[in-house]
Amino acid sequence: MHHTVPKLNDPSLLKTNVAYVNGEWVQAKSGKTFEVTDPSTGKTIGVAPEMDAEDTKLAIDAAAAAFPEFRKKTGRERSKLLRRWYDLCVENSEDIARLITWENGKPFADAKGEATYAANFFEWFSEEAPRLYGDTIPASVPGNRVVTIKEPIGVCALITPWNFPAAMITRKIGPALAAGCTVVAKSPGETPFTALALAELAHRAGVPKGVINIISALKNTPEVGELLTTSPVVKKVSFTGSTPVGKLLMKQSSSTLKKLSFELGGNAPFIVFDDADLDTAVAGAIASKFRSSGQTCVCANRLYIQSGIYDKFAESFAAKVKEFKVGGGYTDGVTHGPLIHDRAISKVDAHVRDAEKKGGKVLVGGQKMPELGDNFYQPTVISGMTTDMDLASEETFGPVAGLFKFETEEEVVRLANNTEVGLAGYFFSKDIQRVTRVAEALEVGMVGVNTGLISDPAAPFGGVKESGFGREGSKYGVGDYQVTKMITYGGNEQPLQK
Ligand code: SIN
Repeated sequence: MHHTVPKLNDPSLLKTNVAYVNGEWVQAKSGKTFEVTDPSTGKTIGVAPEMDAEDTKLAIDAAAAAFPEFRKKTGRERSKLLRRWYDLCVENSEDIARLITWENGKPFADAKGEATYAANFFEWFSEEAPRLYGDTIPASVPGNRVVTIKEPIGVCALITPWNFPAAMITRKIGPALAAGCTVVAKSPGETPFTALALAELAHRAGVPKGVINIISALKNTPEVGELLTTSPVVKKVSFTGSTPVGKLLMKQSSSTLKKLSFELGGNAPFIVFDDADLDTAVAGAIASKFRSSGQTCVCANRLYIQSGIYDKFAESFAAKVKEFKVGGGYTDGVTHGPLIHDRAISKVDAHVRDAEKKGGKVLVGGQKMPELGDNFYQPTVISGMTTDMDLASEETFGPVAGLFKFETEEEVVRLANNTEVGLAGYFFSKDIQRVTRVAEALEVGMVGVNTGLISDPAAPFGGVKESGFGREGSKYGVGDYQVTKMITYGGNEQPLQK
């Protein structure tokens, strides 16, 4: 397939065979590397260092050495650093987007959206950094005065996924730096180069050495993750990824009782009530289900459509999905790119075949696209879904929309909540009381009402149940990187001195 990778405006933003530790570009001590491939073509983009526990320890030591000085900076100074980094991300956003498309596969327009979304976390947290207030608290004990101050927790380990190679990492580094922490970030094995371009821009912005360290690993990821979660020097771990890996990291972190923030898997219900506006609901479903070809934690996974609107919704939704153009992310007009690798294709195909076998009807798609490459799958809509199908309980993380029919509000809320995870949920209705009832009844951390897109640096992102804990972005995001220290000043009951 025709697929030309455009040149970067600034070729020095592509850093191959290096990681960023203590302000320097370094290789793995072992000299080992792994290949990073373009998911559209399967061609190698370049190699990245296959780092191990020894390299990880050096990065942790660098972050620890930088912490005492960095925590002393004022909020305003940290704000200016983040602002400079933000400005550089904006100036270089085309190149960041090119790198995202190259290693992740998402269409260039979406990658540009991600580059902006990612930079906006730096803007947001540059604005939070000077405003990290404590409290003055009236004491119960006469003569005592109680105040709290917010202190940075210390060295933070950040572990991020490939589905948003820029935004997941900026969403963690932004608040960490705002709080005064230093970090070791483990970049995703599939997409290390975007993270390194961000590191180069941090370097240019004047972020002091050791404050940000970015390490990479593919095969050695478990070894690197183990040290990050067991090192007594690391005080906090923030992880975005799957629930099983989150459980392992939590177990490992228990030996040193680290503070944790976990943003794990979702299985988002997407509910359309009879009284919804049909066009708004269809547009919302397209945006939520097929963003990044279904590869986000907040993508609609189970679409519940009330019986009175079911047929019209299915017809209109399937017609829109038929209009998608699938292909390489740099090709003009392409709306949806490949999945990240062939394991993802196998999972999606297994879900489709399982649904078909149990009576589901494929309205659009349903097949692999070998003519485009190994990692392409047709955007798919299946009607007549039932609860015994795998797609009803498993996160598919791909471009497959299964439509379930329901009758009552009570029934659909029960179905929606019938899962161990609870990240995002969406519903469409024009009935104001139903909106309040259902929003409050859904067991999720985030609800979209009459919209399929809820991601915003200003809004708290995070889940409940086995989707994890902690909130990213928003006014709550920095708190996950701080400790509240209470200071009681005693002996203040004496009269004024004569
Ligand atoms: C995710 O998939 O974890 C994040 C998606 C988003 O920020 O919108």
